[in-house]
Amino acid sequence: MCGIVGYIGNRQAFPILVKGLQRLEYRGYDSAGVAMISDKGNLNVYKKKGKVSDLLDFSKDKDKSGTIGIGHTRWATHGEPNDVNSHPHYSQTKDLVMIHNGIIENYASLKEGLEKRGHTFLSQTDTEVLIHLIEDIRKHEDIKLGYALMAALKQVIGAYAIVVLDKNDPDTLFAAKKGSPMVIGVGNNEFFIASDASPIVEYTKNVVYIEDEHVAIIRRGEELKIRTIRDKEITPYVQELEMELEAIEKGGYDHFMLKEIYEQPRSIFDSMRGRLNSETGHLKMGGIEEHETKFINAKRILVIACGTSWHAGMVAEYLFEEYARIPVEVEYASEFRYRNPIIYSDDIVIAISQSGETADTLAAIELAKAKGATIFGVCNVVGSSIARATHAGSYTHAGPEIGVASTKAFTAQVTVLTLMALHVAKAKGTIAESRYRQLLYEMETIPAKVEEVLKLNDSIKKIAAKYKDSSNALYLGRGYSFPVALEGALKLKEISYIHAEGYPAAEMKHGPIALIDEAMPVFVIATKGANYEKVVSNIQEVKARKGQIIAVVTAGDKDVKGMADHVIEIPETDESLVPLVSVIPWQLLSYHIAVMRGCNVDQPRNLAKSVTVE
Ligand code: M6R
Repeated sequence: MCGIVGYIGNRQAFPILVKGLQRLEYRGYDSAGVAMISDKGNLNVYKKKGKVSDLLDFSKDKDKSGTIGIGHTRWATHGEPNDVNSHPHYSQTKDLVMIHNGIIENYASLKEGLEKRGHTFLSQTDTEVLIHLIEDIRKHEDIKLGYALMAALKQVIGAYAIVVLDKNDPDTLFAAKKGSPMVIGVGNNEFFIASDASPIVEYTKNVVYIEDEHVAIIRRGEELKIRTIRDKEITPYVQELEMELEAIEKGGYDHFMLKEIYEQPRSIFDSMRGRLNSETGHLKMGGIEEHETKFINAKRILVIACGTSWHAGMVAEYLFEEYARIPVEVEYASEFRYRNPIIYSDDIVIAISQSGETADTLAAIELAKAKGATIFGVCNVVGSSIARATHAGSYTHAGPEIGVASTKAFTAQVTVLTLMALHVAKAKGTIAESRYRQLLYEMETIPAKVEEVLKLNDSIKKIAAKYKDSSNALYLGRGYSFPVALEGALKLKEISYIHAEGYPAAEMKHGPIALIDEAMPVFVIATKGANYEKVVSNIQEVKARKGQIIAVVTAGDKDVKGMADHVIEIPETDESLVPLVSVIPWQLLSYHIAVMRGCNVDQPRNLAKSVTVE
């Protein structure tokens, strides 16, 4: 978590830093700060608890001049969110300042050593320890800042993306990373540093993704230089960004989340584009084709992910088992990595991540890789750490997802995972040609069906108004709809702070049924399919206890309509593809409830978009 930005060039740094921080606020938003060397040569540091807008108010009448600077938006790990713990942090002499995304795990022992050497600390952060250490090494070994930084980083256990600014050198920035992301934009005699490309794209499309344990030496008027922390020279690899500026702006919507919900017909289409052709029966999945034999012979697939991506992984479990007849285990990355899991060298691991930066997923990948498994990534962010750590993969093409609550990334993940399962099933011969063709055809109709569901927004908003003051909610589904129940509950709790649980509908009677009374809204997916009658029985069980039923049903359904308090009719599709359509009403419902409760939809409390700490 945390977002970092830096600038050096001929323009004024402050507006660039602030705009960049606003783009990165999805990564953390409990405090923000900047440091610039002013036109008069002063080092000005402004930092404030709260959002970037609070920092802007705070620095209104201050000297914000300078063509070199760094900025940070924080998601607190060490030390509560307050002005002092905000970044940038000073070294002992206050000559150096640093911003940091990540965690220095051995900060306590480093701090103890520094305290013995007379250092005093202002904050409770791990970051302050590192900048003190860098200065300490520089002073005691009498070496240049770049070498001191390399020496300090060799002592660090943990993750970091850092940028250091020296008061006495207004022409240089030092940046380094391990585990946390960093990209440098290369402009015309100017450089931009950021946690992702969103603060950079409006200035340049030429970027360099910094690798772990690499240090970038960024000097005004010079070429970008990169060295490893062991001082080996590296040639920067400049890539062209594919991102467009409008993709990261709200485009007239009140919130990114709503914009992203509405983008789903497009993002689902984009995730299929160039891959699927129902006319020819062609399904091109480059990453899988490279490892096709491994997929065909796999005795098992392990899916590792967190949060919404884990829910998409659960849909993949049903798909791969049904069509490709490969047993699938879906694992929370955070549990998997710490329980000494049994991993075979012929296992296929599918790691799913929107951001491609989730620390637990990344660590689980490394563990499975070390045991010889083949790792396949399903990531949204191109060039992200997970995309680079995997052996092969298929990108989702959802475009930048900025709202903290994941929406279009989920449907893009399910789209790609469906195509993967069908591709493997076809290659293995576990699916009949006619069924395969029928599913490909049906996949192509999904964007239009999602479009239809989006037209129900006004009626969903009315339902939201009725349940906005609930304290609890239950989400039920069976089969392919069970992961959607989990996802519906996660969406509601994370942005509206209403306690919600997702359950397999039949499990309700093993406990949660005790919670049901007239105040309990129960959100059920009861679309036509193999479990339809059984779900109808579950609905009756809820109604018998006076619970409120809000059901997503197949268009034209009569039975559920007769017993539910509200129905949301969605277009009919194949049962295995229903998650792509049935999740939309739950996304809209959560969105409207959160807005009506006055919650910050795009930046819910305590959360961050990419969880780069474990
Ligand atoms: O970037 P990732 O897909 O790896 O992120 C995983 C979770 O942190 C993420 O899905 C989180 O649960 C979202 N807030 C859900 O809306």
